[in-house]
Amino acid sequence: MSEQDFHQYGAPSRTGHHHPALIQSVSNDKEEIYQTVFDHSNDAIFVIDPVEDRIVDANPKASAMLGYSRAELLSLPVSAIHPNEMAVLQAFAQSVFDNGRGWTDELTCRTKLGNILPAEMSASSIQIASQNSLGQIVEGHLIIAMVRDITERRQAEAAERELALVEERNRLAREIHDSLAQSLTAIIWLLNASELTVKAGGDAALESLNKVRDLAKESLQEARRSVWDLRSGPLKGLSLVEALEQETAKTTGLNLGTAFNVTGKERVMPGGVESAVLRICQEGLANVLKHANASRVTVTVAYGKTGIELTVSDNGIGFDTEIPLQWDKDKGGFGLISMRERAQLLGGGLTVKSSLGNGTNVVAAIPVPPETGTTPEVNNAQG
Ligand SMILES: Nc1ncnc2c1ncn2[C@@H]1O[C@H](COP(=O)(O)OP(=O)(O)OP(=O)(O)O)[C@@H](O)[C@H]1O
Ligand SMILES: [Mg+2]
Repeated sequence: MSEQDFHQYGAPSRTGHHHPALIQSVSNDKEEIYQTVFDHSNDAIFVIDPVEDRIVDANPKASAMLGYSRAELLSLPVSAIHPNEMAVLQAFAQSVFDNGRGWTDELTCRTKLGNILPAEMSASSIQIASQNSLGQIVEGHLIIAMVRDITERRQAEAAERELALVEERNRLAREIHDSLAQSLTAIIWLLNASELTVKAGGDAALESLNKVRDLAKESLQEARRSVWDLRSGPLKGLSLVEALEQETAKTTGLNLGTAFNVTGKERVMPGGVESAVLRICQEGLANVLKHANASRVTVTVAYGKTGIELTVSDNGIGFDTEIPLQWDKDKGGFGLISMRERAQLLGGGLTVKSSLGNGTNVVAAIPVPPETGTTPEVNNAQG
């Protein structure tokens, strides 16, 4: 990084301090440099001894975030910061220990004032050897956790959800206005107009009654269609197979051939399963377009007795699935995570098989008990 670049990133802060980190890092003392990094990190950093349930060290940002002095933090058990979350905390610590690292946004932090902050933490586990008071070398295990307050992000998400709800309500209002209210108005108008003919009796009266009945029937059908559309969410009234086929066909391009297969006996799945499968398929295909540089992608939906399986398989460049996914609010990286979450929320899972040069195979499997599905024919017949 050139001096020029540095100044771009390190423009004088609002507090008026000018790069204290730079001045100190001129030092040749490594320890001093690391200390400077630690002290000036914009994320809270905690060094934790999971066995003793103790905070061994915390940087100034950690103190600022939680409102405790460093000394106070070092005298607190980790559990004091995550009250009522011991199970999640232990599971997270265990996974960090098992995999050497981990990430979660499921934990919150309690500040000294008792506020609960939603947090995102990225942790790694390190092995250290130190000398005890007897001069013996002892091996210990520490967890380094970088913690970020995500209150603002959560608020933005809540606002977004609220907005989506408002939009949905408006859509319902429009739907009711456009279909039901208009049909009823027309029916009332026809009934008014029929009044005279009905008084006169005879064929003319029958005819106008028939007209009203036909209009009422049409309106009922319209209402049923609307309800179906609304219930079907992202499928927009299509069957799942139709929606998946359409999605696949849309992806076809100059250099990308697509294929779509259905195996097993098609049946209507619970609405949540169908929209999840469609969303997973959309993200899978988006990833192929964005990353794979493939010439062929195949989407297969397999109906089984005990569930449904969706496979998106491409012959592109592939990627290294060993590298943990990094989520970045600017760059994204949320697709695979959200595909997995969607499948997991429904009791299923996502398997990603990929390696450099060998294409990518993403399989979402969702269990659906055999009795829940009906065949599409039966379901549509009532409409
Ligand atoms: N079909 C694929 N072929 C090659 N690489 C892929 C494929 N699918 C995913 N990847 C790799 O996995 C990474 C993570 O994918 P993911 O969908 O989670 O994030 P993203 O597509 O980068 O961003 P976002 O989906 O949030 O817009 C991608 O950045 C890409 O490197
Ligand atoms: Mg993606």
